[in-house]
Amino acid sequence: MTNKELLKITKPLTVLYVEDDEIVAKNMQKILSKFFDTIVYCHNGEEGLEKFLINTIDIIISDINMPILSGISMIKEIKKRDKNIPTILITAHQELNYYENAMELHVDAYIAKPINIEKLIEKIREISINIVSNKTHEIKYDALTNANQKLLDISYKVTSQKDFTKILETILLGAKELSNSDGGTLYLYNEKENTLEFKIATNDTLKIHNNKIDWKPLNIYNKDNSLNQKNVAVVSAIKDQLINIEDVYKSDKFDFSGAKAFDKDKNYKTQSMLVLPMKNKDNQLIGVIQLINKQEDGKTSVFTHEDESLIKAMASLATMIIENNQLVLDLEALLYGLINSVNKALSEKSKYTKQHNDNVAILTNIIATGINKNQTIFPEVHYTDLEMEELRLSAMLHDIGKITTPIHIMDKATKLETIYDRIETIQLRFELAKKDIEIEFLHNTINKETKNKKISELDNDFILIKTLNNGEYFAKDEEYQRIEQIAKNSNFTLLTEDELYNLSTRKGTLTAEDREIINNHVVVSYEMIKELPFPKKFKNVPKIAASHHKTIDGGGYAAKEIKDLELTLKDKILVIADIFEALSSKDRPYKEPNSLSQIFKIFTFLIKDNKIDKNLVQMFFEDGLYIEYAKEHFEASQIVEIKEDIKKFFISN
Ligand SMILES: [Fe+2]
Ligand SMILES: [Fe+2]
Repeated sequence: MTNKELLKITKPLTVLYVEDDEIVAKNMQKILSKFFDTIVYCHNGEEGLEKFLINTIDIIISDINMPILSGISMIKEIKKRDKNIPTILITAHQELNYYENAMELHVDAYIAKPINIEKLIEKIREISINIVSNKTHEIKYDALTNANQKLLDISYKVTSQKDFTKILETILLGAKELSNSDGGTLYLYNEKENTLEFKIATNDTLKIHNNKIDWKPLNIYNKDNSLNQKNVAVVSAIKDQLINIEDVYKSDKFDFSGAKAFDKDKNYKTQSMLVLPMKNKDNQLIGVIQLINKQEDGKTSVFTHEDESLIKAMASLATMIIENNQLVLDLEALLYGLINSVNKALSEKSKYTKQHNDNVAILTNIIATGINKNQTIFPEVHYTDLEMEELRLSAMLHDIGKITTPIHIMDKATKLETIYDRIETIQLRFELAKKDIEIEFLHNTINKETKNKKISELDNDFILIKTLNNGEYFAKDEEYQRIEQIAKNSNFTLLTEDELYNLSTRKGTLTAEDREIINNHVVVSYEMIKELPFPKKFKNVPKIAASHHKTIDGGGYAAKEIKDLELTLKDKILVIADIFEALSSKDRPYKEPNSLSQIFKIFTFLIKDNKIDKNLVQMFFEDGLYIEYAKEHFEASQIVEIKEDIKKFFISN
């Protein structure tokens, strides 16, 4: 091999050179710099070990006899972490025990001072060729291939998880498996509180696996606002440093009182520890992985350089996945926040509509959970947690279109109500008419008997109008005919045309035009909901939410885009929940709450008319799903025995 070829090999390598004698060091660095571009120079073994831990070193060249930590002791420590690192020891000592120690440590070369430069170059050549031809690394090679495969397996496992807690669990267990540790902890950074929160802790020996930890979070700052330099996880996080500790009981750099108290309590011995921060590409802290007690041949040993590399790779993967997940969670939180604020605006306008949305969400959940349990009518249907959430969101949003419905129509308590109840105006007209009759009597135009008859007639007519003004009153045909006559009264204007029209409403308080305006809320709901940027998993929410006034015979109300689409079972669940809530609620200004028996009676009519899904109502009834809701939301007077004919209807159907 020519010198040029040798330099091509040696130049990219990094050498750790440790020597306490400044003059020797100066000369050696001159020689070494001809071969290596990067020389990490240290004055003693301790510094050498520190530099080794934070740099990627290819070759070590070290003196033996040095202050603080000798070359032999330093190599001993380093070899625990990387037993195959090429090492050259240089010393003035010729004693046998140094040789013995060096041999035990599998040192590649032992050169005596004064240094024979040719011998040194020869050793550098040998070692460099070995590194390149992978001879030095061939033992590592198999292990690394194995570890890479494991890393790939773990990546696959992590990325195929959907649940965030499971993702964190898989990351920690993966890191533990890769490094063959006995235990570990995963912390996530809480930016708001500036703390590291315990998320998962696991320990094989103690058979601990806890993902619901309530341990106190670790503060990044002390009470006096100084950085917490005592806790190893916090230091690793704030200094962005991998920390590898051989024995926590021998380390005085950090406060391990927590680990020691844990050991005492659990009769355990925390020894080696590897702590690594997880930071994203913008160098923002995501969390910390802490592994304890590396296992080797059934004993606790120190974490190696290979462990560090693998855990670093694992941490990068974990960071990416956690960050993506948090991004999704943040977006979801934004979406829910948006939904809440729309509902808040709606509740400012109409309290019961917000309550209605919430109650429909509760009922939807009761019905969907009932379907999951039911083995007779819906044995094949099982909703996942995501689908349950999809239903909940749909229910929460289904009536948000009412935000545009005029309040006097939405809450029209009587037939004559506009922005106020016109019954009072009509009453005034009747009073004036009665006064006119009194005047006629005083002017002797009519006699007392006629006066009394006319006044009593007016009183009766007003009572009739007042009665008809109630939306829940079922009027007789002759009563409608009578108000038409009142409106035609040529002497007094007692009822306007519009008042007569409103009073002539046969069912409820709403005219056909009012109903049209009210029904439009489902169109607005659809328009509003479809504008929300739902993730793929919730893409059906607009349709489920805005189909709640459709009927199974193809009728009902809905936006053009979904009007002709068939109702799915999820759509039908919301329809039933919506009707049940509307019929049972006790806070509507325009109606009294129905009893259980009345509600199921109405359901039987709707089933007979092919408006709602018979199977769903049947299950809702037979499985007693309504009981849970009624106990919580009904007045005692509403909870009545369901009539026999209704029970028979469901049994025979
Ligand atoms: Fe609605
Ligand atoms: Fe509704």
